[in-house]
Amino acid sequence: MEARAELPIGVFDSGIGGLTVAHAINQKLPAESLIYFGDTAHLPYGDKSPELIIRYALNITRYLLSRHCKMIVIACNTASAHAFKAVEKFVGDKALVVNVIDPAAEAIAQSFEKGKVGIIGTRGTVQSGIYPRKIRKLNKQLQVSSLATPLLAPMIEEGFFNNKISRTIVNSYLEKRSLTEIKGLILACTHYPLIRREIEEYYKGKVAIYDSAEVVAGYVHKLLNDKHLLSQNKHPDLEFYVSDMTESFQESVKFFFPKKIHLQKLQFSGGES
Ligand code: DGL
Repeated sequence: MEARAELPIGVFDSGIGGLTVAHAINQKLPAESLIYFGDTAHLPYGDKSPELIIRYALNITRYLLSRHCKMIVIACNTASAHAFKAVEKFVGDKALVVNVIDPAAEAIAQSFEKGKVGIIGTRGTVQSGIYPRKIRKLNKQLQVSSLATPLLAPMIEEGFFNNKISRTIVNSYLEKRSLTEIKGLILACTHYPLIRREIEEYYKGKVAIYDSAEVVAGYVHKLLNDKHLLSQNKHPDLEFYVSDMTESFQESVKFFFPKKIHLQKLQFSGGES
């Protein structure tokens, strides 16, 4: 059991978004080794079909299992919405599987007794209807309004955050009628913590913001602790892989993990990652 605790946590996303989750896990659990996979050759995931997302997710999962990960974190809302069940089935009892939707849905459902809450995410996540379903199952008094914000992930992936352009685009989404009078907002895309500042500026403290990175790191901690799988490793490895080497990924990984990084392009055999 103890040896298993020292095995890495596998984390994946379409690109840089999941780095926000990997970073939060690393901050909370610095003794954990991480293997990160950014599927940059196939981003954005947000507009792809569920079938394609499942195929990408299973190929990445196969790789992470070959590296003996003790836990796989699907650090992407779109992949969590479409591929969580398929990944869980594929993994069986070989590893723990965590999605980013359940922890955020639980957090918001417990925070408010009643009223209206909002969700922003990719088309895939919003069209799946998974957030309203999960939140209303936990708290029937909440009204959940979702808005697809498909420009945001590609904008962030291209390095547009914390500037005039990102502020204008964020504001024009947030002023939509569907998001009026919300008490809380879930950033249901792991890219969005990178534009959290713009979103907070828009709401000026009047709306509570939930970003999946923070809540997922807490959830990972609790789960590993409950299973007696917390690592004590003094020299954990941080490895990063991408299906296509992009400038944006190289810069982002350095931003989140300025010290030691191992970054490499990796294509799965047969070239059909
Ligand atoms: N970061 C992802 C998510 O949480 C996907 C963004 C994309 O590739 O469209 O949904």
